Amino acid sequence: MKGLILYDSIYGNTENIAQAIGGTFGPPDDIAMLRVGDVMPDHFTGLNLLIIGSPTQRFRPTIAISNLLKGISKNSLKGVKITAFDTRLTWSEISKTPVLAFFVKLYGDNAYAARPISNSLKNKGGELIVPPEGFFVEGMKGPLIQGELERAAVWAKRIIAEM
Ligand SMILES: Cc1cc2nc3c(=O)[nH]c(=O)nc-3n(C[C@H](O)[C@H](O)[C@H](O)COP(=O)(O)O)c2cc1C
Repeated sequence: MKGLILYDSIYGNTENIAQAIGGTFGPPDDIAMLRVGDVMPDHFTGLNLLIIGSPTQRFRPTIAISNLLKGISKNSLKGVKITAFDTRLTWSEISKTPVLAFFVKLYGDNAYAARPISNSLKNKGGELIVPPEGFFVEGMKGPLIQGELERAAVWAKRIIAEM
């Protein structure tokens, strides 16, 4: 099985989650972990699994992840299993800022990065195998809340079970 975990990370938290997910896979799976800036068209050749992760910034994936998604052509993910993850603030942090709380209440999961990423991958023909997931940071720059790396490994096991 050939898989790719593609992520963006400004402060390292999403990268740590990507590593926890990638580290859960083992032989014979061939899983590459790549920062969004390092991806080449070749990396998509023969893929069975594509997982994309992004920090949530201003209710969205980062610009680099959004641009990458725009560059994936329609139907090119036919036969590829996909899912997505993000890192995000906890509700108790968000609720301290009324404007943030307003948008999160209004848009729900669409006010974070993972759901829009997985919707975009589905639109390109990918098959969603496990629902997109968010992992929590304590403040704007992190760190991750305790236990999130372990939760990422559990999420990865659900993906492995679907392969
Ligand atoms: C400019 C900026 C905007 C952000 N906007 C949001 C947001 O809309 N919702 C949210 O949950 N977290 C938001 N955050 C917190 C990020 O989710 C947090 O920085 C990210 O999870 C850290 O991941 P990284 O270390 O991989 O960059 C924002 C952070 C920054 C710096």
